[in-house]
Amino acid sequence: MTAGPVLARTRGELAALLSDARSGGRRVGFVPTMGALHDGHASLVRVAKERAEGGPVVVSIFVNPLQFGPGEDLDRYPRTLEADLEVCAREGVDVVFAPSVEEVYPGGEPQVMVRPGPLAKVLEGKIRPGHFRGVLTVVAKLFGLVRPDVAVFGQKDYQQLVLVRRMVLDLNMGVEVVGAETVRETDGLALSSRNRYLDAEQRQQATGLYLALRAAQETAEYGVDVALGAARAELRAQPGVDLDYLVVTDPELGQLPPDPPSGTEARALIAARVGTTRLIDNAPLLLGRLEDR
Ligand code: PAF
Repeated sequence: MTAGPVLARTRGELAALLSDARSGGRRVGFVPTMGALHDGHASLVRVAKERAEGGPVVVSIFVNPLQFGPGEDLDRYPRTLEADLEVCAREGVDVVFAPSVEEVYPGGEPQVMVRPGPLAKVLEGKIRPGHFRGVLTVVAKLFGLVRPDVAVFGQKDYQQLVLVRRMVLDLNMGVEVVGAETVRETDGLALSSRNRYLDAEQRQQATGLYLALRAAQETAEYGVDVALGAARAELRAQPGVDLDYLVVTDPELGQLPPDPPSGTEARALIAARVGTTRLIDNAPLLLGRLEDR
């Protein structure tokens, strides 16, 4: 049994805890989260530990009001600090940074925020205006407080991952950003803190997102149209999944060329409502061409 992580509630406590590591030249690994930790987060921590090469790993737990729109689930978002600390203890996390809203936003909403650019206007950004401005602003603030060498984000929130990478590149933040594989239940459902909102029937229906993505992956060798058709057929067979979008893009979320050559890498992304719960998922595709078959 490990002693468990040290809990820092303020920026000052966090800075004091990390100053020794920094002066010793050790790498700092970082996993930003909103808590309600599950095995998906645990896998991010494992990646961070590996990439930190023996240096400390920090997990932040902060439900960021800035990334929730009006009518979204900010108030009902699960807050489970005790259980989260246990997960962190099991995974050998060194520091948990769990600040209050006032600690992160002392003067209220910040005057200066990160403008996430055109990639934030599509997909999730189109449905959740302002979401990525809130995400990138808090990630930039957390990077400023933790000053990590490496930060790990889940591929499940793929658009978030692409945007964080873009921010780090465009603003020269000097943080290595690692995208960790999505962890799934045995029936394929991607782990998510929001899965706990699903009742038994909805939980079963929610696998429809994964089945659609898998159908796209299995038919991608025949091209984008066939892959999308196969995914849509899978969704038609699955009642209760109310589709927001299903798209195939290039890996950076840009448009694919009109007739992509065989071997082109792509990404299928899906978002849907099951009951009142909004779920997202995505998967890599390796495209072929129908006429090459
Ligand atoms: O992916 C999340 O949990 C959040 O969007 C993040 C990156 C912790 C920012 O609040």
